[in-house]
Amino acid sequence: MSNFVHLFSPLRLRGLTIRNRILSTGHQTYLAKDGLPGDDFIAYHEARARGGVGLIIAEAARFHESTFTDSPEIVVATDDCIPGYRKLAEAVHRHGAALFGQLSHSGRCSKRMTAGLRGVAYAPSAIPDNRFHSMPREMPVALIEEIVAAAGAAAARFAEAGLDGIELLTSHGLLFSQFLNPLTNRRQDSYGGSRENRMRALVQALRAIRANVPETMILGIRISVEEIEADGLEASEVIAVCQELKRLGAIDYVNATIGSMAGLGGSIHVVPPMDIAQAYVAPQAGTLRAALGLPVFVAGRINQPQIAEQVLASGQADMCGMTRAMISDPEMANKAKAGKLDDIRACIACNQACIGHYHAGYAISCIQNPASGRELTLGELPAASQRRRIVVVGGGPAGMKAAATAGLRGHQVILCEKSARLGGQALLAQMLPGRAEFGGLVTNLERELAQAGVEVRLKTAVDATTIQAMAPDAVIVATGAHPYLPTIEGKDEGHVVDAWAVLKSEANPGSRVVIADWRCDWIGMGLAEKLALDGRHVRLAVNGVHAGQNLQMYLRDHWAAKLHRLGVEVIPYARLFGVDRDTAYLMHIVSKEPIVCEQVDTVVLALGHESETALGADLARLGLPIEYIGDCLSPRSAEEAVYEGLLAGRAV
Ligand SMILES: Cc1cc2nc3c(=O)[nH]c(=O)nc-3n(C[C@H](O)[C@H](O)[C@H](O)COP(=O)(O)O)c2cc1C
Ligand code: SF4
Repeated sequence: MSNFVHLFSPLRLRGLTIRNRILSTGHQTYLAKDGLPGDDFIAYHEARARGGVGLIIAEAARFHESTFTDSPEIVVATDDCIPGYRKLAEAVHRHGAALFGQLSHSGRCSKRMTAGLRGVAYAPSAIPDNRFHSMPREMPVALIEEIVAAAGAAAARFAEAGLDGIELLTSHGLLFSQFLNPLTNRRQDSYGGSRENRMRALVQALRAIRANVPETMILGIRISVEEIEADGLEASEVIAVCQELKRLGAIDYVNATIGSMAGLGGSIHVVPPMDIAQAYVAPQAGTLRAALGLPVFVAGRINQPQIAEQVLASGQADMCGMTRAMISDPEMANKAKAGKLDDIRACIACNQACIGHYHAGYAISCIQNPASGRELTLGELPAASQRRRIVVVGGGPAGMKAAATAGLRGHQVILCEKSARLGGQALLAQMLPGRAEFGGLVTNLERELAQAGVEVRLKTAVDATTIQAMAPDAVIVATGAHPYLPTIEGKDEGHVVDAWAVLKSEANPGSRVVIADWRCDWIGMGLAEKLALDGRHVRLAVNGVHAGQNLQMYLRDHWAAKLHRLGVEVIPYARLFGVDRDTAYLMHIVSKEPIVCEQVDTVVLALGHESETALGADLARLGLPIEYIGDCLSPRSAEEAVYEGLLAGRAV
């Protein structure tokens, strides 16, 4: 049993008892079907309810047409949503968790795309945002009244579907926070000016919701205690607003977050990346809680039950949002309760497959847990119909996941890794500045291997003959990749080193460095930071439109800020083609004009990878079933590696 006294104590809100303090905060899954909660969406949340979460707040749902887009979001503007939400509520309640719905209107913070066309964004005033580049239209009073009424009608649908509560999004610079904010609300009518006027739309919406739902239903807001944008709401104003809402009896709780979607800086905090401290919003939530005397929820990098317990024990919050923690491991709460902490697959805040998928327009998942968001197809792991002997070659993320999956299904699995450690490129990735947590991917997979009873053979290079000697029924090849080194004129004249060698401290770059970054991802940005932190002058030449082009945007922007502070010079649209003793010759990839970097001591090559295929031809002669997965199939990321590992382990 666990020692999580606070985490597993129930919370009473109105008539509702929530079984513990673990919260899945609202998060858009893009699992909606035709704008409605469908079976994928229900299976996703049911997995977390089964896994022991106390409260699920389902994703931001659109309740008025002035905020619709054609993205796969949930629309609660008609009664069509009721059957899906009812099914969701039944599924969540069946496992003992509580369920709230979340209502959202983005105001100016949206592109509002429909069939490739931009719609009209409506906001309190015509003040542009700095992320979506929307110049909104000022809302007429009639539209405000319609939105207020629509919030009430949507709430009635949640009530009819059997949900336990409702959260109105007032956070992240969205519509109701735009009303609260004197810098984005310049209205001269009764909705602008004094605090009372700026709060009017929010208070009216909360009253409309309360009037449409049973007395027992919980009603709260989510709010950013600080928006961290030049025209964002300040903490003191937020506290004053919350105190007034309490005085009016308009809310039962406040769900505290930080950040704003109105700009790239504030947006980083919507889903904070790895090198932002764990539970970093908790102190501000604690200040709000002390000033308010109402239950306060908090989220933001609370990825382990120990951290949640500390937040609760120190009185900073009444519930802990552990959203990505449960995208990564839906069973986190049950494991914590049972004291099986080492079994928890902790979220590493990589942002790749959860918010990364969402921004790319796909249903969310997790790089460590590909079954996340795919519960209906990958949620169950079928036992092997007959125990076979499987050899997996290569102990990077792909091979580890394949071996663990096959082992869990009952196969006898031998995993051969030629180096002394498991982890493959993840071991290098964790050496980039601020990326140590990426090593959690390896730790978590090692745990899965142990649970699956896989025999791991380190320092074991194999060839067809040694594999044959192991007498496998099938082979999974996951031998990874090595750095790609194209021909570069004059390479031998200059000091040219490879990114991996720099990371492994096998190369010693001089004091003036040019990094040639073809992938536009973690490696180029990370090396630039590392070398600049070491006091070197760094030029990061990217073969793309900007540094980190292929990274999830919150991570990219956070990193761009760090590089800017360190004085790293970013050269976009640049491809390296030659070097000499102290010059790097680049070419503008569109104009084809030269870009010459002089006074260069070392050129670092981050030019991507090439598959390790040496084993392939040799193995073919064995006549065994062979599956190639991960980078040895095609160099990509850890996400594809783990996903293909899971599929191979399931199929074998
Ligand atoms: C894929 C994804 C979608 C999100 N969508 C929403 C949303 O619809 N409403 C909301 O209030 N927050 C949304 N968020 C923010 C989360 O609620 C939460 O605040 C954030 O993930 C930080 O908490 P964590 O570190 O526990 O994951 C989203 C987060 C993710 C990862
Ligand atoms: S993809 Fe990364 S950030 Fe998202 S839930 Fe999984 S481990 Fe966490």
